[in-house]
Amino acid sequence: MTQNKKIPIILDGDPGHDDAIAWVFAQGCGLFDILAVTSVGGNQTIEKTSYNSLRVCTLIGLHAPFARGCYHPLNTEQMNAPTVHGESGLDGPALPEPDFAPEPISGIELWARVIRDCPEKVTIVSTGPLTNTAAFLMAHPELKDRIERISLMGGGLLFGNWTPAAEFNILVDPEAAKIVFESGVPILMAGIDVTEKALIKPADFERIRALNNPVSDIVWQWLEFFYQFHKTMGYEGAPMHDPCAVMVLVHPEIFTIRDFYVQIETCGDYCKGATIPDWNGILGFPPNASCLMDLDRETFVDYLIDAIKAFGEVGK
Ligand code: RIB
Ligand code: CA
Repeated sequence: MTQNKKIPIILDGDPGHDDAIAWVFAQGCGLFDILAVTSVGGNQTIEKTSYNSLRVCTLIGLHAPFARGCYHPLNTEQMNAPTVHGESGLDGPALPEPDFAPEPISGIELWARVIRDCPEKVTIVSTGPLTNTAAFLMAHPELKDRIERISLMGGGLLFGNWTPAAEFNILVDPEAAKIVFESGVPILMAGIDVTEKALIKPADFERIRALNNPVSDIVWQWLEFFYQFHKTMGYEGAPMHDPCAVMVLVHPEIFTIRDFYVQIETCGDYCKGATIPDWNGILGFPPNASCLMDLDRETFVDYLIDAIKAFGEVGK
């Protein structure tokens, strides 16, 4: 791939404030060829995350084909996060109504279409539960080798954020996560080990507000809303979980990354949804995930702000 060639990706998420900001970065940084966008249930119901997906894409001028993803986790009751993202799933500033319609096909059939049509292998960027990714791998095994890698936000090697053992995206659909982590497709895992260090702080909100363009005006208000929940939990800023899964694809040098064989716990009273690394190679299996462990936070925030700034430049 030449130096300045855009990376072909599919964005799959449950917007969700941090999903939305991840998509702002993907569109604003100018380094990606966004082939498709799909929704998944998680932060809110699939109906709400689909509506939010279309509104975010409208806001940022992202008119890649959109389709709704799977309407329910593979084998777990649907769980949502209204305490974090609000009843709409994207509470805060008013957003434009969608200016384009979804494709009349399922999310995984849209993936199949764009992956077949792309001359290069495609990277899947999943920032919600892994239901769509697992369903795609099961429905289209013939296209597995057309996937470059899966860059996902999910999991936590040391702890959880929804239960003591499990991070939200994995816990919503642990069976899907197990299918994905056992698929053999290369995985970049942005777990809360790194994403809880990817804090954007109130002083950064002001830098974004000062950009004074149509997208920055919304992003700083999303951040204010998203921070309210985290402030009550003692965070110094808003954790930018989902943007990590996008930024690592174009700025890997700002992250510390270690390879592990990671197992997904799908049952149990206390550890369902845990992502368990084989720290000492006891099982003897080769690594199945490159796990983000740390980052240069200041540079991360600078890159994020640069991408948001681009929406105020002519032609964005
Ligand atoms: O645990 C954080 C993850 O759960 C993020 O993707 C956030 O958007 C929610 O989906
Ligand atoms: Ca998300």
